Amino acid sequence: MIKKQITIAIDGYSACGKSTLAKDLAKKLSFIFIDSGAMYRGVALYCLQNNLFNADGTPKQVEIIQALKNITLSFQLINDNNCLILNGKNVEELIRGTEVAAVVSKIATIKEVRVKLVMKQQIMGANGGIVMEGRDIGSVVFPKAEFKLFITASQEIRAQRRYLELKSKGIEAKINEISSNLAERDLMDSSRKESPLIQVADAIVMDNSKLTREEQLDFVLNLIRNLV
Ligand code: DC
Repeated sequence: MIKKQITIAIDGYSACGKSTLAKDLAKKLSFIFIDSGAMYRGVALYCLQNNLFNADGTPKQVEIIQALKNITLSFQLINDNNCLILNGKNVEELIRGTEVAAVVSKIATIKEVRVKLVMKQQIMGANGGIVMEGRDIGSVVFPKAEFKLFITASQEIRAQRRYLELKSKGIEAKINEISSNLAERDLMDSSRKESPLIQVADAIVMDNSKLTREEQLDFVLNLIRNLV
């Protein structure tokens, strides 16, 4: 049976397991999976590599906006992993490090950055059959998505998950530092002027603090069974 090529929009706070769920769903449905946060991380990495931050840590807005035309982003499946390609280079590992995590929310507040990435995301999802996760997917990128999910989880669980994820990649980090970085990013992401993280009225809310990976997948598959 041919599946309906619907659009699934997943939003939520940092380290809620959005990517894990989106990846699992996409695999199950044979849909495209897009981690939109990776694209903001890619721009943040470019800015770090090209000295586009002031000494006080604020982004050099004018220069960054001018540099946007020099930034090309795409995804490539390498060893079953959806890797971000920045100007021809696989930067998947670099964008997950703590240096990028510390500055990415500042980059995501810049309107012109968002306009460029949202346009690209809309093109990637133009034919449906996509699971995209981020902060503004149900509100801005795909406001007409057939299914919208908003994920939450306790701060403690999220810090623990991110710690284990980084550890499994050989990246050393302290759990209290991860926790404060998450809190800082959550605040910045939900209070910014440009498309802040919001829970849209037509999104289903799922708290996955106590759900296993399989349980959260089943929960969503059950909800969408009449849509695909
Ligand atoms: O999901 P993530 O932690 O990889 O996202 C990195 C940052 O990018 C996060 O601080 C918020 C921002 N972001 C955004 O503003 N809009 C999106 N659609 C996805 C991510």
